[in-house]
Amino acid sequence: MTKTTRAYTNIALIKYWGKKDTKLKIPYTNSLSLTLDKFYTDTKTEIIDKDSDEIHLNGKLLNDNESKRITNYLDFIRKNYGFSEHLSVKSINHVPTSAGFASSASGFAALAASINQTMNLNLDNKHLSILARNGSGSASRSIYGGFVEWIAGDNNKNSYAIPIEEHPNIDLSLLSVVISQDMKKVSSTSGMEISVKTSPFYSNWVTLVSSEINEIKQAIAKKDVEKIGELSEHNAMSMHALTLSANPSFTYFAPETLVVVQLIKELRSKGIFAYATIDAGPNVKVICTKESAPIVQKYIKNNLPTVTTVVANIGNGIQYI
Ligand code: PMV
Repeated sequence: MTKTTRAYTNIALIKYWGKKDTKLKIPYTNSLSLTLDKFYTDTKTEIIDKDSDEIHLNGKLLNDNESKRITNYLDFIRKNYGFSEHLSVKSINHVPTSAGFASSASGFAALAASINQTMNLNLDNKHLSILARNGSGSASRSIYGGFVEWIAGDNNKNSYAIPIEEHPNIDLSLLSVVISQDMKKVSSTSGMEISVKTSPFYSNWVTLVSSEINEIKQAIAKKDVEKIGELSEHNAMSMHALTLSANPSFTYFAPETLVVVQLIKELRSKGIFAYATIDAGPNVKVICTKESAPIVQKYIKNNLPTVTTVVANIGNGIQYI
C-alpha cells in the first residue's frame, strides 16, 4: 500500500526571482531557504482505471478548470517518465492562507514524492527535487529540511536543490505577520517575467545573489544568526526593488507592510533580534530567535492590532506516513 507523503513549506532567505527557462522553471540564480515546521501538505496518489485524473484538494473534487495546473503537471510527468496511467490525487493542505504562506512549495513537493512512490519511479532526492521544480520552482527546496540551496543550473538535469544543513542546531524562529489573505494581483510568474525584462537593476540582482549566497552559507556554518538576518533582509528588499524599478512598476507591499518593517527596525534599535523578509505578497516574515519571537509578536500586535501572527520553527524534509 502506498503511504501518504508529507512536505513542509519553506521560506527563501536568499530569493529566487526570475526564470531563464519559463517552461522548465530554470532560475537565473541559486536561492537558499529554510524549511519550516507546522505548515505542510499531505498527499496520496493512486492509479485509477479512468481516462482522466481526479484531483481532490482538502476533501473536495476539483473541476477541470481548478485542477488544470495539476493535470498539466501530471501530463508532463507521464510524458517524461514513461507511464500512461491516470491518477487519483488526494491532497490536504495544512498551509492555511491565514498563516500567510503559499502552498505551492509544499504542494508540489508532496505530489512529486507521492508519484515517485505510486509509480515506482525510484527517484533519489536529487531527481525528486528536479521533478518538484517542474511543478513549482520553490518546491524543489521542500524535499529537504533545514537550510537548503537550489542550484540554478542551466537545463532540466542540473537544476535541483541540495541540503546545506538538514538539522541545524541554531536558534532561529520565524514569525509570520499576516496583513492580507487576498490572492496576489501579480502572480510570481508574471512578476518575475516583467522584472527580468524591464528592471534596469536585474543584472545587478544576479551578481548580488551570487555573493549573498556565499556569505549566508558562511554565516550558517558559523551559526552567525545576526549575519543570516542581515543578509536575508537585504536580499528581500533588493528583490522588491526589482518590482518597483520594473516598467510598469508594481509592488507586493501594502501600506502595513512598511509599517511592520519600520516596527522591526525600532525593535532592532532596542537590541531585539528581528529581521524582515517578504515574498510575493504583502505579508512579512520576521526572522527571530526563540527568545525574541514572543517579544516581536507582542510589539507588532500592540502597534497593529488587525494583523494575525504565527510562529514557526525549523522543519524536516519529505516524510512518508
Ligand atoms: O516557486 P514560486 O513560483 O512560487 O516562486 C517563489 C518566489 C518567492 O517566494 C518570492 C521567492 C522564493 O525563492 O521562494
